Amino acid sequence: MSIPKAPRVPRPVAAASFEPPAAELRRQLEACAAFAAEQIAGVADQPSWDLAGAAALAGTFKESAPEEGRPLPEVLARLGPAISKSLNTPAPGYFAYIPSGGLPAAAMADLVSLVTNRYVGVAACAPALAQIEATAIGWLARELGLPAGAGGILTSGGSLSHLTAIVTARTNRLPEDFLSGSLYVSEEAHLSAAKAARIAGFPARTVRRIPVDGRCRMRVDALARAVVEDRAAGRRPFLIVATAGTTNTGAIDPLPELAVLARRENLWLHVDAAYGGFFRLCPEGAERLRGIEEADSITLDPHKGLFLPYGTGCLLVREPETLRRAHASEAHYLQDVADADGPPSFTDLSPELSRDFRGLRVWLPVMLHGLRAFRETVAEKLALARWAADRLRDEPLLELVDEPQLSLVALRACPPRGDGDAFGAELLRRVNARRRVFLSSTVVGGRYTLRLCILSFRSHQDHVAEAVNTLIEEAHALAAG
Ligand SMILES: Cc1ncc(COP(=O)(O)O)c(C=O)c1O
Repeated sequence: MSIPKAPRVPRPVAAASFEPPAAELRRQLEACAAFAAEQIAGVADQPSWDLAGAAALAGTFKESAPEEGRPLPEVLARLGPAISKSLNTPAPGYFAYIPSGGLPAAAMADLVSLVTNRYVGVAACAPALAQIEATAIGWLARELGLPAGAGGILTSGGSLSHLTAIVTARTNRLPEDFLSGSLYVSEEAHLSAAKAARIAGFPARTVRRIPVDGRCRMRVDALARAVVEDRAAGRRPFLIVATAGTTNTGAIDPLPELAVLARRENLWLHVDAAYGGFFRLCPEGAERLRGIEEADSITLDPHKGLFLPYGTGCLLVREPETLRRAHASEAHYLQDVADADGPPSFTDLSPELSRDFRGLRVWLPVMLHGLRAFRETVAEKLALARWAADRLRDEPLLELVDEPQLSLVALRACPPRGDGDAFGAELLRRVNARRRVFLSSTVVGGRYTLRLCILSFRSHQDHVAEAVNTLIEEAHALAAG
């Protein structure tokens, strides 16, 4: 029997650009590398923010998709202004919110992982790459003091780590019908904790907000009382979300006492160490974070204290089996890649199936720089916050909300006359208007509060000095009217 000749299917012509010849691909990659390097080269000298005309510029990107492709230089040229019309988050003078880092080594990792595009969700598809990710997570677990056998997953950030932690605690500690469960966060907890609880199906009435002490730390006595009250009311307390480094002031909840309470009451202890966790890399930070190693799970943000780019979060768990219980699922179409011995399949431990190989983003920077570089850098941030607090402590127009517990200095204005909150808000406006540094504000104890969060690997003493001097100068200018 002869097989009829099938007509040839022509290759798509325009799609030839999908796969340029090797030399052309290299030129394109080099052009992107040159563009990125140029963007970041002068970052310290660029204004700390520039939003003039940004809305109009944003409007120019409301466009229909081009039918024909454009040359790469033309496309890149449009990005330059879009990048500069923004808050200059990678700059050394950026002290607002919680600064990120953006170590270029992570971008190198992304380039390699995205171009080679291997699939790591199921370990059998790329065992060595899955092991690289598992190893990187293991390094973090070890640095946080979790026991051998601890593990976890990499996420896109702290919010998703919290969500996964809450679902995991829920699955392991509550029946399938879980609405009788109660969980506990402090009044100073990050919004992402209550948000994750809501997304995980817990109505607001099941999320108890525990008051804080004079240093913004969760009050263990109030928590213990709430647990007793809830049990008496027929509820099922199951989870404490403690914070190791609050966003408002950098406060650390009393972790050893919370760990004791959690064990006694059989509660899951999750620690939100998105901001503070990596300070455990240095001895002084490890001392302040004592007790974190008792946690059942920990949210860490490598895009904060490990100085990686936005989009790099981590959830560590004491027992990876708890993650597996909450997430592992089976399907016939995955039967060819069933787990063998070796690294875990991250899809069994997380909500995701297909995703980027984000392990390389953590592994490569640590391999390239070594842990010592990170230890020294987090220690420097703690020292800089102490130094800034020392400079500001005796300043009559400003008042420290607290001694820094980590690398965050929170301040209130105390003008000789008039409204301190309004003075503080105007002070922030004036400081930021100089465009050398960028600070943000919050409300602590009902009072307007300025925050100086020192976390970027690029921020050193001269940058912190500039922020402190600007605050003092502008406060005096404002008080003088
Ligand atoms: C203490 C704390 N927890 C959680 C988060 C949420 O993390 P992400 O923004 O990575 O989702 C933040 C963000 O700044 C934070 O400061």
